[in-house]
This record gives sequence, structure tokens and C-alpha cells, in this order.
Amino acid sequence: MKKIIITIDGYSSCGKSTLAKQLAKRLDYIFIDSGAMYRAITLYFLDNKVDIQDPTTIESALAKIQLEFKNNNHTGQSDIWLNGENVEKAIRTMKISNHVSEVAALEAVRHYAVSQQQAMGEKKGIVMDGRDIGTTVFPKAELKIFMTASIEVRTHRRYDELKPKFPDISLEEVKENLLKRDLIDSTRKISPLRQAKDAITLDNSKLSMPQQLDIAAGWAAEIL
Ligand code: C5P
Repeated sequence: MKKIIITIDGYSSCGKSTLAKQLAKRLDYIFIDSGAMYRAITLYFLDNKVDIQDPTTIESALAKIQLEFKNNNHTGQSDIWLNGENVEKAIRTMKISNHVSEVAALEAVRHYAVSQQQAMGEKKGIVMDGRDIGTTVFPKAELKIFMTASIEVRTHRRYDELKPKFPDISLEEVKENLLKRDLIDSTRKISPLRQAKDAITLDNSKLSMPQQLDIAAGWAAEIL
């Protein structure tokens, strides 16, 4: 079968990773959650008290970071590893969510992540989700999807996901974080979140997961 690159971009908590994962499974493609890379870099920066105002410190910190995606035999999912440690759980906290967009806006950080993401797509057969995948990472991707959903739907989805792990979390706190990240992500200087001109919009506010998957797989089938 022909191998293509599929990009899924959009605002925070639109369900991009869930769809990307399912679509990759259906097509027997590789799935890459680019947001996990920015979250892992943020975890390293916070743990090592990296001063994000100082370009030299940022560069030397990035030189010490090694990121890998490895299949988790228990969950069947692809987990992110930071310097030999599985940090899949550690990167999903509100603390990371509260700092990641500032870190992801740094030029050196974007350069570091984007070059690795492009290398992962060299052989095609990949579904990657994020904010700038269709605009900057793979501007020539064969299928670009831009996902949207109402802020209410997004807030409830993220809240339901976080509540079992973090019982003290409030709906308001989750909503504020989503709005803040969307604002920073779409107004930053380098590769801000934008819909690529040739991206197809998928508003999933009222769609179930199987419905979204059928739509996206249908778009892919038209190209394959
Ligand atoms: O996808 P997720 O919500 O986990 O991404 C976390 C953060 O990483 C986003 O809010 C954004 O600041 C950053 N990000 C980015 N570019 C990407 C993917 C994520 O700037 N391609």
C-alpha cells in the first residue's frame, strides 16, 4: 500500500491524539504525539531549573536531552522516554500543562523538536498530531486534518481524563489552562498554531470516536 504523511493539528484537547492513534492503527502506520515531546522537554527544564530567558542555558540543556518513543507492552501504546526513563505519566500533570506552551514557544526548542519530527517522517507511513505539523513540520503532507471542538466539549473531555488521576482538579482550572495554552500557541512568533490552507476541518463536538475515525479513514482512502 502507498505510504503517506497524515497531519492532525488543532487546539488543545480536541481529541487529536486519540484520533491519530486510531487512524495509525487502522492504516498500520506509525503514530507520533508531537505534544509529548514538548511536554518531556518541559519536564526536563522544570526538573533541572533551566532558565528559559537564557538562550545559552537552553541550548546546553537541549544538548543533554534524548527523546525516544517506545512501545509499551502492557498498554500497547507508544510511550515517550526522556534520557532512558519512561515519562509518559509524568508529562500529563497540570504542572507540565501550565508551563509547556512557554517552553514550546522558544526558538531553540522548536528547532530541536521539529528536526526530530521531520526525521521520523522520512519513510512516510506516519500520523503525527500537534499544532504546526501541517504548516511547518510536513508542509507537503498528503492529508492534513485540522480538528476543532467547542471549548465546553474540550474542557469536559480533559476534565474527565484528569479527574481520576487528580481528584482535586476543577472544571474552571482545566478551562483556564486550555484557553491560556490556545492563546500562547496561536500567537507565538515561531510556527504558531494555524490551519494550513490545504487542511480539511473536522469539528468533532458532536461526533463519536468511531464516527471521527470513519471520516478520517475515508479521506485517507481517497488518496491511498
Ligand atoms: O498536544 P498537547 O496538548 O499535549 O501539547 C502540549 C503543548 O505542546 C501545546 O499546548 C503546545 O504548546 C505544544 N505543542 C506545540 N507544537 C506541537 C505540539 C504541541 O507547540 N506540534
